[in-house]
Amino acid sequence: MPCPISKDVSLAADQLRKGRLVAFATETVYGLGANAFDTNAVARIFEVKRRPNFDPLIVHIADPNWLDRLVVEIPRDARKLIKHFWPGPLTLVLPKTKAVPDLVTSGLPTIAVRIPDHLQALQLLREADIPIAAPSANLFGRISPTCAQHVAEQLGERSDLILDGGPCRVGVESTVLEFASSATTILRLGGVTVEQIESLIGSVFLAKTAGHPSAKGLSSPGMLSKHYAPRTPLKIESQFGLLPTGKRLGLLTLTPINYSEQFAVVEVLSASGNLNEAAANFFSALQRLDTRRLDLIIAIPFPNEGLGRTLNDRLQRAAD
Ligand code: TXA
Ligand code: MG
Repeated sequence: MPCPISKDVSLAADQLRKGRLVAFATETVYGLGANAFDTNAVARIFEVKRRPNFDPLIVHIADPNWLDRLVVEIPRDARKLIKHFWPGPLTLVLPKTKAVPDLVTSGLPTIAVRIPDHLQALQLLREADIPIAAPSANLFGRISPTCAQHVAEQLGERSDLILDGGPCRVGVESTVLEFASSATTILRLGGVTVEQIESLIGSVFLAKTAGHPSAKGLSSPGMLSKHYAPRTPLKIESQFGLLPTGKRLGLLTLTPINYSEQFAVVEVLSASGNLNEAAANFFSALQRLDTRRLDLIIAIPFPNEGLGRTLNDRLQRAAD
């Protein structure tokens, strides 16, 4: 039986409390949620997503005071960021309490936590009255879903319920920022930009992308180099001098270009070159391209600033 899609928040909250899995919308992407304190439910997330258990989950909360149960300490800079960016696409990695199951954090002594900026997600959290552990609601390594239909296509009956909260406004995942005694490091670029973070707390480090898919030496396994990927091969090209001939090509571009007749399908992310609009359209455009039986998707890199950096990061991980 296909998984029901519903807009009933009370039903979804009830399911979560009963240990079921509920896919729900946030401002970034859809998450596949479970009660963070229910280890059986959390274990099913890994199973359903085919996610390796070395890759820890983000825990979603409704209010900063829920942190008391989850983290032992909040550094001063983290407090500043919470005040400024929550609810919003910023995930903070902080030392965890014993109450947080090791399964959620893949055995790490830290927990990743955020408040989503999405009315329905906040209602769900408040009604369920439990922190919700939720990775993006895609199969491991594949394109993140930004609407209920995409969740259904990837996870189908493997989720117990999909709570339809409409299309995601931001469209790329949250920025993951780790606080360690020695340094503050961006583990994953995301919806809050480096510039925004640095204007508030000064310069931060940027973690290097891992070279190959193994957890060894990774502070954040989401830094795997191959991730967020379509099935169709994708290549990043800033110039089209040497396009392969006799192939069905797709183009992913921020703004319209002159030579688009060489492509069977063209996805323009923002006619005016607006990076917020481009981010909101990014994963659904990639998803559409992936269904058009193309031999190759060519992607033009974004300007390397603000959300453009996040989008270039996702492109690099989608590329072969
Ligand atoms: O926008 C988002 O963040 C979405 C929505 C649903 O909230 N969630 C999401 O979750 O993207 P996921 O599981 O796809 O990515 C979580 C990232 C991974 O890169 C994971 O390795 C990292 O957060 N992470 C989680 N816990 C961590 C921890 N304790 N230390 C370091 N990295 C952690
Ligand atoms: Mg993900």
